[in-house]
Amino acid sequence: MIPGVFPQGFRLEPLERTHVRAAFDCGESRVTDWLRSKALQSQNRHLSATKVLLNREGVIAGYYTLATGQVDFGDLPPDVARGLPHRKLPVAILAWLGVSASHQRQGLGDLLLAQALRDCYEAGQTFAFIAIILDCVDEAAKAFYQRWNFRELPGHPYRLMLSWEFLAALMEVE
Ligand SMILES: CC(C)(COP(=O)(O)OP(=O)(O)OC[C@H]1O[C@@H](n2cnc3c(N)ncnc32)[C@H](O)[C@@H]1OP(=O)(O)O)[C@@H](O)C(=O)NCCC(=O)NCCS
Repeated sequence: MIPGVFPQGFRLEPLERTHVRAAFDCGESRVTDWLRSKALQSQNRHLSATKVLLNREGVIAGYYTLATGQVDFGDLPPDVARGLPHRKLPVAILAWLGVSASHQRQGLGDLLLAQALRDCYEAGQTFAFIAIILDCVDEAAKAFYQRWNFRELPGHPYRLMLSWEFLAALMEVE
């Protein structure tokens, strides 16, 4: 069963210019800097889509960014690759996910990840992809995702994937 609703008063919104990004800090500079200075520009160019979680005061408590991409057939675990064409294959990319330092360890990371997976699942009904891929920044982040059954791509210890089949199974028990 994947976790459901955000705490009362919290709301998820597509990133907009009016959201105060400069104050966001999740303790990991690359993840912080992406939201502060790159996410909106990338979204405006339609390269990625970011959603922010606002707390009761309208402060950004967390965010995630989704994009699309491709993975080489040869990079997939053999059991996932079986039966697929030997070429680049479409994937959804969970490009970034962060929770502000003052909101961490309250379950929001899990809730944001659950919502990102729901978004991917919904999009996957229209634009097919074989898996969700993400690059984790460190061992702590990797442990966070592995709890959700994301698994390593062979030879890429910090690149994790969740197959479409697994995503669909996760969503069907919701
Ligand atoms: C990773 C991150 C998103 C987790 O967010 P969070 O809101 O603190 O996560 P949750 O409260 O939902 O935690 C759920 C579980 O994840 C695990 N977890 C979370 N942070 C962890 C950490 N730093 N080390 C080990 N396990 C961790 C724990 O099992 C935790 O459950 P618990 O609190 O009952 O022990 C957050 O720490 C963060 O933004 N980190 C910096 C940016 C980053 O690494 N992003 C991911 C790569 S893009």
